[in-house]
Amino acid sequence: MTERVRITDVSPRDGLQNEPGVIPTAEKVRLVELLCATGVDEVEVTSFVSPKWVPQLGDAAEVCAGLRGRKPGGVRFSALVPNERGFEEFSRVNSAGPLLDRVCLFTAASETFNRRNTNVSIAESLERFKPVLGSAYRDGLAVKMYISCAFGCPFEGEITPKQVADVTASCLNLLSHSDVWAGRQGPGFGPIEISFGDTIGQATPGKVALVMMAAGPSADRMAGYWAEQRDTSINLHLHDTFGRAAECVKAALEIGVRSFDGSVAGLGGCPYASTPGRRAPGNISTELLVRTVEAAGFKTGVDLGKLEEAARFAREIVAKARAGV
Ligand code: HMG
Ligand code: MG
Repeated sequence: MTERVRITDVSPRDGLQNEPGVIPTAEKVRLVELLCATGVDEVEVTSFVSPKWVPQLGDAAEVCAGLRGRKPGGVRFSALVPNERGFEEFSRVNSAGPLLDRVCLFTAASETFNRRNTNVSIAESLERFKPVLGSAYRDGLAVKMYISCAFGCPFEGEITPKQVADVTASCLNLLSHSDVWAGRQGPGFGPIEISFGDTIGQATPGKVALVMMAAGPSADRMAGYWAEQRDTSINLHLHDTFGRAAECVKAALEIGVRSFDGSVAGLGGCPYASTPGRRAPGNISTELLVRTVEAAGFKTGVDLGKLEEAARFAREIVAKARAGV
């Protein structure tokens, strides 16, 4: 039987957060709707970060309100959350009826990037994870923990596989940390993903192998430890600066990675990964991702025709917003 690979489209979040203009809420909602129709497993629909830091996604609550009644079965919705305040907004959305399934936390393997992106050190960002993880445990939510700069940093340059492995182990250790679950009643965590972020597209197939070999064992150990309670997997989140992302996907498939992020039309980039000379690069396009995965002999369940339709729409709304800036 052909093995299945999970595809998450992050364009409504990663794709739109780095645009110079703000896309109207109704167009964001329509983009998510078109993505749902493609058969992707998950859509990262928005981000509950500070609107002072990322004004492009300041309408997160309105986007979620617009998505009510438009979410087909079988698709998971996720949203980025930087702190407890963000999780309060996330929960407020679900208090009107379940809509968001996965909370996405983010830290980095680079101290400099993490501070620029979230104003705290890596250790402090992991402290911020704890109350959010506790609430996710209570509410039975799926969790994603992004580790940015897993293959290089725009400010520090090289990041070693050991640095990534150490942050991976810290993230996974939090899941069994008594500060997180002690005294909590609830269904426990839903499926967990550790996502290696190639924030500025510096990965090569060789680096992917090295990082996975270094970080994989702690992930495997924890997955084994928690096997009866939850499903833990590794996800790869690639940006495609040098056109190497598809090669990296192939290398990751060979190592056993079965979950990838893409962004339709290759939109994307972290505003806090941009340097004065260069705007942060876009994600691997979901179209290329799906084609690469399927050419390698796996199935995704994604309809490429519908994906092209979503990509056309994404290009249109971005072009319109750019023209208005
Ligand atoms: P801060 O300024 O240190 O926070 O920002 P603060 O606690 O001092 O709060 C400042 C103000 O923001 C206060 O308002 C807070 O209430 C408010 P004021 O009193 O000044 O009126 N505030 C919030 N408002 C709404 N929602 C919130 C929230 N939190 C505080 N959640 C903070 C700290 C983490 C909030 C900020 O640094 C932030 O929002 N950072 C997010 C940056 C971001 O979104 N980056 C892009 C996403 S990560 C990425 O793209 C990488 C990834 O794709 C993987 C990869 O490619 O590697 C995931
Ligand atoms: Mg990203």
